[in-house]
Amino acid sequence: MASISPIVNISRQVQIPNFAFAFDIDGVLLRSHDPLPRARKALSYLQRQRIPFILLTNGGGKHESERVADLSESLGVPLDTSMFVQSHTPFADMDQYKDETVLVCGGEGDKCRVVAEKYGYKSVVTPGDILVQHPEVWPFSAHLMSLYKPFARPLPRPIHPTDPSSSLKIDAIFIYNDPRDWGLDATLILDLLLSSAGVLGTISPKNDTPSLPNRGFQQDSQPPLYFSNPDLWEALEGLWGAVTGGERMGVKLNKTVIGKPFRETFEFAEKKLIGCREEIFKETVAEGRLEPLRRVYMVGDNPESDIRGGNTYQSPHGTDWCSILVKTGVHQEGQEPTWKPRVIVEDVYDAVQWAVEQSKWDSRD
Ligand code: G3P
Ligand code: MG
Repeated sequence: MASISPIVNISRQVQIPNFAFAFDIDGVLLRSHDPLPRARKALSYLQRQRIPFILLTNGGGKHESERVADLSESLGVPLDTSMFVQSHTPFADMDQYKDETVLVCGGEGDKCRVVAEKYGYKSVVTPGDILVQHPEVWPFSAHLMSLYKPFARPLPRPIHPTDPSSSLKIDAIFIYNDPRDWGLDATLILDLLLSSAGVLGTISPKNDTPSLPNRGFQQDSQPPLYFSNPDLWEALEGLWGAVTGGERMGVKLNKTVIGKPFRETFEFAEKKLIGCREEIFKETVAEGRLEPLRRVYMVGDNPESDIRGGNTYQSPHGTDWCSILVKTGVHQEGQEPTWKPRVIVEDVYDAVQWAVEQSKWDSRD
């Protein structure tokens, strides 16, 4: 554990905190859409004290700007997108795919396509686009055609399995949010993972070759697979095992999973927090006197995502992530949490009070 010295005193008047907060949203600040008691008080206190914080949620499905505006209104505190990380926010930084063609799955209608486009992705295909032009890919969703038609868009290229050079090629697959049409999403993803280089309608000749790594599966430039939501991932692991033989045959599903409790998300959140802190104390940064961020208090209600993530994350900057569990959400009084936090408190306001005391913060208002 990093040693936590008291706050850094720059002058008698100005305190600069060497700590910051990451708050889970659902079960910590809100329950469903309603603010939890003392959530506003906790955030307002931090804003008055100029103590940096971000909101770190596994929710998603809408663009950050939309979500932040809703939150700001329901909590009654000014918030902006620089302090907000939802499950798919790290996809916004994956510039390597922004000029490629990507498949975006999950969420309502094509809201997640719109999110991806706002992140800067230029060619985004949804499963609905493919189904509307090629109902044969998954005939069981034919009854949903009237739902897909209003938002389906023409494909950037037609599907020509016999002439791969002119056919639709998917370069990466992203799962942004809970799937609404599991069968269609899972079928298309599976087809792409078994294809030659992401060309729909092809099948890689390398599949099921015992002499190749992973028995030849995902060895033929198939699109990489990114999940920010575990639901479809678990279902897909099952299907992948059934189709390829799975672990029994030494075949893995290669994928990247983000969101809490995974490292990528905590690393992204830490980067955001460092950015927020540098913005708040920009004069001190300009003078070259801003001390490093020493500790982040991760306040959450879910032991499996918030506490596990905070406890297991190893900061590349040596920042100590200190987990605090509240009783206003998933974790309830009397339960033994599956991942042990540093402390359990009643609610978010108590979490903040406990933390500032630990960091010996002088709360002069
Ligand atoms: O979809 C899961 C979501 O409701 C969890 O939200 O803020 O508790 O990470 P949060
Ligand atoms: Mg929560």
